[in-house]
Amino acid sequence: MTTREPALSELYHENTKMRRYDREEALRSLRISSDPVLQRALLHCFKEYRGNPEVELPEGLPDAKKSLEEIVGERRSIRSFGGANADLSSLASMLWCGSGITGELRDDSGELLRHLRTTPSAGALYPVESYVVSFRMDGLAEGLYHYNVRGHKLEVLEQQDLRPRFSGPHYQEEIFAGAAGVILLTGVFQRTTFKYGDRGYRYVLLEVGHIAQNIMNAASFCGLGTVAICGFVDAEMDQLLDLDGVEESTLYLIAFGPEPS
Ligand SMILES: Cc1cc2nc3c(=O)[nH]c(=O)nc-3n(C[C@H](O)[C@H](O)[C@H](O)COP(=O)(O)O)c2cc1C
Repeated sequence: MTTREPALSELYHENTKMRRYDREEALRSLRISSDPVLQRALLHCFKEYRGNPEVELPEGLPDAKKSLEEIVGERRSIRSFGGANADLSSLASMLWCGSGITGELRDDSGELLRHLRTTPSAGALYPVESYVVSFRMDGLAEGLYHYNVRGHKLEVLEQQDLRPRFSGPHYQEEIFAGAAGVILLTGVFQRTTFKYGDRGYRYVLLEVGHIAQNIMNAASFCGLGTVAICGFVDAEMDQLLDLDGVEESTLYLIAFGPEPS
């Protein structure tokens, strides 16, 4: 019988299984949850580009264009968008449904520990950041933006036509040619791995999926089509977002736009 080398994914999965008796893990968890300074620092587990120009986003969701059954039952990936504009309130709904703040976590003395959001997060640590590339949006110039969750607003990172950055052999150029925009979801891994170790990497990937699905359902609710995309050159997307790719790296793209009629 020949034995094969285990795949990296098998090694990773095996080595990040939770075990019933794991002293190191138990101590780490205890240390973190009983450290008041750390708990206070965790209130700020989101990125903000202070001083950058900002774009206010509309609050609230528009009237539903579809029932829940239609949203879930009729979703299909759209790869040829018609080149029509999307509106800012639909984008705002997608971002809010993905990562919007909806509650608070307080300790027994009433001190605010964390803002809670639309999607679940291991330890309420929220390792995922959202960015937007606008190609053709009413009320939003072409360019790159970061979603500020606390202020429900966009921070301007760059204003120019970024379509050339989504071209080349690994990109499905037809998607980006017709889409109104792209939401880029990144992972800030240490927000989660400092508490959960290597197993936390699984959590970051799971959470990006929660967020992406909420974004896609919200898009559908607003009458927009979407496609989830992993076909991108990681280093190029990280460079676009000015990320080092280690502390924070691009995980998932969601192209969106009105569906062609
Ligand atoms: C993790 C993930 C990565 C994906 N990456 C791509 C991609 O790079 N390009 C693409 O056209 N579709 C991509 N898709 C979409 C799938 O191809 C699509 O969901 C699948 O064919 C099922 O079709 P449906 O979404 O229309 O139901 C991806 C989906 C997932 C979940």
